[in-house]
Amino acid sequence: MKIDYYEKVFLILGVVMLLSGLTAILISVAGAGVMVPEPAGRIAPEEVRTTAPFDQPGVREISAGKYEAVIVAQIWSFSPNEIRVPAGSEVTFRVASTDVIHGFFIENTQVNAMIIPGQITEVTQDFDEPGEYLLICHEYCGIGHHNMWGRVIVE
Ligand code: CUA
Repeated sequence: MKIDYYEKVFLILGVVMLLSGLTAILISVAGAGVMVPEPAGRIAPEEVRTTAPFDQPGVREISAGKYEAVIVAQIWSFSPNEIRVPAGSEVTFRVASTDVIHGFFIENTQVNAMIIPGQITEVTQDFDEPGEYLLICHEYCGIGHHNMWGRVIVE
């Protein structure tokens, strides 16, 4: 069987592209610790407000330097919409929606998740640098979507 020169070049190029893509994934997972957020639990949207810990949203210190931020997402706000932690904290966000799909994105961090009704979203992030981090819903969720934001204040 005769393989045309250009066909061979494209075949080799294809294999090289596949391998470099695979290498990039391996490096980001093993080296940089990049992960896909997993559902941390299930919760019916209509039961969010009456089920712990979402019946008492807010920030609590769970151990030295480690915080838990329980947040309820609803059209078109986060409750609470202001999270305050000292610099050097590790914050685990637990978020659930009472209605539609929302987004959960914190600028200049790796926090970028979906809040899917029926599901608890859990993401952990270290906040070493003091400052204000904008938190936004980055999934279109209706007419008031652009008003759905908050902030993480690192003191
Ligand atoms: Cu919630 Cu967009």
